[in-house]
Amino acid sequence: MSATLVVGGQYGDEGKGKILSYLAIHDKPDVVARAGVGPNAGHSVGYRGKTYKLRLVPCGFMAPSARFLIGAGVLVNADVFLKEIKECGIEKSAGIDRRATLITQEYIDADAASANSAKIGTTKTGCGPAAAARASRTAQFVESDPRLKPYLCDVPKEVNAAKRLLIEGTQGFMLSNLYGTYPYVTSKDTSAATFCADVGLGPRKVKDVILVIKAYTTRVGSGPFENEIGVEDAQKLGFQEYGTVTGRPRRTSPSLHWEELQFAAQINSANYIALTKLDVKFPACAGIRKYEQLPADAKAFVSEIESKVGIPVGLIGTGPDAEDTIDRRS
Ligand code: GTP
Ligand code: IMP
Ligand code: MG
Repeated sequence: MSATLVVGGQYGDEGKGKILSYLAIHDKPDVVARAGVGPNAGHSVGYRGKTYKLRLVPCGFMAPSARFLIGAGVLVNADVFLKEIKECGIEKSAGIDRRATLITQEYIDADAASANSAKIGTTKTGCGPAAAARASRTAQFVESDPRLKPYLCDVPKEVNAAKRLLIEGTQGFMLSNLYGTYPYVTSKDTSAATFCADVGLGPRKVKDVILVIKAYTTRVGSGPFENEIGVEDAQKLGFQEYGTVTGRPRRTSPSLHWEELQFAAQINSANYIALTKLDVKFPACAGIRKYEQLPADAKAFVSEIESKVGIPVGLIGTGPDAEDTIDRRS
């Protein structure tokens, strides 16, 4: 087996969706497995001229003739799952582990009504209350929703039998409940080891851990955020973004947070960085697909990242399309 795991290196929204779609097309996994918290994640994936806004199904849904699985560790909203598998045309190849937790309306209402959720600025998708219920052993498995019956499967069994496996982590390392900016974090750990457990793979089986980082830093929701600038300044730099799930303006820091990135590389045992939105920081990079063709300032930025974080930049995003990618992995 050859397994690749993708994790977010900042506060989520690093552009994991685009990197995952590149890997799905080029590495041709036979199994793509979604790990992470649940539908609090939002990924924008541009594929064949269409933009898909995904919260639950794997971003690598375009991998040819693959299985698309959701692990037991993921919190599942049945409506979101059913809508997205249809949108992506993967009704026949999608599966959910029967032990995954079902998000019910009760959890969504509790997330929306809770003063603590408001303080943290959660996505109000019911993830926190559902994770709490799972920890308290009062939650239901997805198998209790009759609409999900056709999709139930044994994810660890399929994942462990895969030849080329792609595991999709969500959120970002700094939102980890264990290692992030607690209490301004999500409801569980968001590091590589937890993503392995989410889909039922032992850590020794993972070959590559790819840490996705954006050329600048954004954060949605409350909590400490180094070197933050206002919306107007972010707009001037072309860095202002809006949340995929909530539509909220993302907070912006024009710099990379080196200590956080070093910590993320260590805890995730990452062996590659995927750097996204290099073209947003250096517009002359737009659409370039060969490293040699990058302008000198962009190359110097890549070298600075490699020397400060201590691992190679294996993939570089130079545009929104999956194919706008420089691949330097050996
Ligand atoms: P993840 O949650 O990490 O998947 O990121 P996201 O999808 O939430 O981020 P966002 O909603 O900001 O969407 C990213 C958008 O930026 C998508 O439309 C991508 O196609 C696009 N994008 C990703 N990588 C690059 C890149 O390298 N350059 C440019 N110009 N756009 C990119
Ligand atoms: P929750 O996960 O909805 O409980 O939200 C907790 C915190 O994590 C809030 O600050 C959210 O904005 C943030 N968060 C959760 N998931 C994501 C994500 O996928 N991208 C960015 N921020 C997220
Ligand atoms: Mg996102």
